[in-house]
Amino acid sequence: MAKILALYGSPRRQGNTALLLQRAVQGARAAGGEVEEVVLRDLKMSPCLEIYGCKETGRCVIDDDFQNVYDKLLSARGVILASPMFFYSVSAHTKILMDRCQSLWVRKYWIEKHPFGKSDATRKGLFISVGATKGKKLFDGALLTVKYFFDTFDAELWRSLLYRGLDFEGDILKTPEYLKEAYEAGRDLVLAVSKSRKSSIT
Ligand SMILES: Cc1cc2nc3c(=O)[nH]c(=O)nc-3n(C[C@H](O)[C@H](O)[C@H](O)COP(=O)(O)O)c2cc1C
Repeated sequence: MAKILALYGSPRRQGNTALLLQRAVQGARAAGGEVEEVVLRDLKMSPCLEIYGCKETGRCVIDDDFQNVYDKLLSARGVILASPMFFYSVSAHTKILMDRCQSLWVRKYWIEKHPFGKSDATRKGLFISVGATKGKKLFDGALLTVKYFFDTFDAELWRSLLYRGLDFEGDILKTPEYLKEAYEAGRDLVLAVSKSRKSSIT
C-alpha cells in the first residue's frame, strides 16, 4: 500500500490550506493510500540550531518531535505539504521542519556523497498553498524552497496546487472547484507512486 505523509503547515486548524489538505487526504485514501497526518503546530520542534550534530550519522541530534517526522518522511512514498503564503514564503511552522531537514541534506550530500544536480527521485511531493493577494510572483519564492526541501528526502515536486485571493477562514469553501482539484491530486498522487513503484520492481 502506498504510504503518504500529509503535513499541515498552517497555524489555522480549519484554514484554507487545511481544508484543501483534508480533501487531498480523502482522495489519497479513496485511491487506497495509507495516509498519516501530521499537524506541525502540534509538534514540539526546535528550529535548526546549526550545530551540525548530524554530520556523523545524518540524523539530527536535537531530541524532540522532529525525530518522529524524520522517520515518517523516509518511510513515505509520497508527501503532501500544505502551507499558506506568509511573507512570500511558507509558514514558520513549515520552515522549522524544513530547516531541520538539513540533517537529511547532510546525509545525502555530505555522507552519501550524492552528486549535486543529479535527480533520481524515488518519492513524489505535492505542494498545496494559498495566498491572499493575486500577484503573478506570489508563489515563486516558496516553490524554490519546497523543491529543495523535497529534494532532501529524494522527492520530486510532482505537482503544486496554488490558489490566490483567499484570505479568511472558510474562503476556500467559496471555490469548491479548488477542493475538487485537491481531492483529485491526492488520488492521483497515490496512483502515481503506485505506478512508479511497479515500474521500479519490474
Ligand atoms: C503572517 C502572515 C503573513 C502573510 N503573508 C502573505 C503574503 O506574503 N502574501 C499573501 O498573498 N498573503 C499573505 N498572508 C495571508 C495568508 O496567506 C492567507 O490568509 C491564507 O488564506 C491563509 O491560509 P490558511 O487559512 O491556510 O492559514 C499572510 C498572513 C499572515 C498571517
